Amino acid sequence: MDNNLKEIHERIAEIRASALKSIAEALEARDLPTLAEIRIRHLGKKGIITAILKTLSGLPAEERPKTGAFINALREAIEHELELANAKLGSAAFEERLKAEAIDVTIPAKSGRFGHTHPLTIVHDEAVDLFLTLGFTVAEGPEVELSEYCFDKLNTPKGHPARDRQDTFYCDEDETICLRTQTSSVQIRTMEQLKPPIRIISPGRVYRKDEVDATHSPIFHQIEGLVIDKGITMGNLKWTLNTLMRGLYGPNVQTRFRPHHFPYTEPSCELDIQCFECGGAGCRLCKDEGWIELLGAGMVHPKVLSGCGIDPDVYSGFAFGIGIERLAMRRFGITDMRLLYENDARFLRQF
Ligand code: DAH
Repeated sequence: MDNNLKEIHERIAEIRASALKSIAEALEARDLPTLAEIRIRHLGKKGIITAILKTLSGLPAEERPKTGAFINALREAIEHELELANAKLGSAAFEERLKAEAIDVTIPAKSGRFGHTHPLTIVHDEAVDLFLTLGFTVAEGPEVELSEYCFDKLNTPKGHPARDRQDTFYCDEDETICLRTQTSSVQIRTMEQLKPPIRIISPGRVYRKDEVDATHSPIFHQIEGLVIDKGITMGNLKWTLNTLMRGLYGPNVQTRFRPHHFPYTEPSCELDIQCFECGGAGCRLCKDEGWIELLGAGMVHPKVLSGCGIDPDVYSGFAFGIGIERLAMRRFGITDMRLLYENDARFLRQF
């Protein structure tokens, strides 16, 4: 072997030894930056391997291929070791991260404060669900309504006290448009659009010029109900409303149907439930009456039916209107309606 060749081979052996040693040390020290630096120093464009390849030209032609192959084997060995070391450090770093970021799912959670449904919505949803199971569907109508639908077609002509400016928010001088004072307007819209049999409820917001106090608010909510078919009687009305009362207040609720007057029903009635506070003996809640008034109802007036194109000689029906605030107040023993609107969390949290 000539001197040159010997030198190169010794050099290759040295490089191999020192590279592998540095890699082993960096691996031991978990030193990824040093591994990167070793790679550049050996395998980079201006690195040790490139430099030694250049010295091949000083060798006799027949020695070059073999020595070249040695150098390539060196390059591959270094590359391989670097890769192994990187993989080991990489997966170790991953393991460490997993350990550091591990979540102990057995630690009891910090419980946040969750909100819940508003008492008005609770009662609304219960009533609506109940009617849905009885085969009713939900109909909707506008809150800004034609006076014609809110009053005239409900047999409440001009001059009726319900239409007084003291009671109703009108949107125009001529009083042809108002904020609906009752969801009964949806009865008319429904009868004009659908043919009997009709079985709808219509929950929604209504407006009256009332001063705010413990039992009044200028905005409140009602659920209207309407059933029209052949042969519908007051018996159907009583059964339906009794079923609703049992659903809302329990199976032992006592009800009382009391004659009343509404322009759009004949006969008309109001439904009372026996005071659950005193059991009918009389107390503050029922104002010593033993009964609590809950809703208005009746058999749809023939004039209302015919005004909507339904023949009162063929069809009959009943209707009812329930104040949702009143239902909720009775249900939860709330004595001041304002509490339902003030959004005081101390109050709302109780339901
Ligand atoms: N509209 C009435 C009110 O606001 C409630 C009512 C009574 C609705 C009798 C009806 C009904 O459909 O038949 O007080």
